[in-house]
Amino acid sequence: MAIRLGDTAPDFTAETTEGTIHFHQYLGDSWGILFSHPKDFTPVCTTELGAFAKAKPEFDKRNTKLIGLSVDDVTSHRSWVGDIEETQGTALNFPLIGDQDRKVADLYDMIHPNANDTLTVRSVFIIGPDKKVKLTLTYPASTGRNIDEIIRVLDSLQLTADYSVATPVDWRDGQDVIVAAGLSDEEAKAKFPKGFRALKPYLRMTPQPNK
Ligand code: BEZ
Repeated sequence: MAIRLGDTAPDFTAETTEGTIHFHQYLGDSWGILFSHPKDFTPVCTTELGAFAKAKPEFDKRNTKLIGLSVDDVTSHRSWVGDIEETQGTALNFPLIGDQDRKVADLYDMIHPNANDTLTVRSVFIIGPDKKVKLTLTYPASTGRNIDEIIRVLDSLQLTADYSVATPVDWRDGQDVIVAAGLSDEEAKAKFPKGFRALKPYLRMTPQPNK
């Protein structure tokens, strides 16, 4: 069944390039990003895994654990890892799930039969410390993901989890944010000591509160 925002991320136990992982236990109190790759030894996936590995310090800063998945086994993943290091200049530094029986792919509805009945699509699930799904993204096999966008949305999710704000189009960490619609002007004044600008009664901008 499709996973929807607000659902509890299904738990599972899987073999990975870093040994057996119990998913919820692996996440602990961190945020998590689970993302799927259609197949080992494929070009777009190779570039994506290199890019996620290079960006890992950014995810670490955000208390976020990465875990990838491909519907091949861990032995295959281990030989592919050498190619990723050789061609992308970075060693894989997070676990990659071996899902040859598609247990996790099915649990997370990562195979879309009308696109391809054996390969996963490129799914991204961002999961909060409460184990609830905060974001889902689905890309076709032929389109590599954008890591900057994943970090951008993670920043928004973490900010809006802690403050009564929303983030506008193309927002980036450090830019002004929108006062949550549910707050009265009086409440907004109390919550945002730097003040706010009301462009419309429903569109009130304030400096990012945690900066
Ligand atoms: C790729 O990663 O390059 C890829 C994988 C499956 C289908 C198409 C492209």
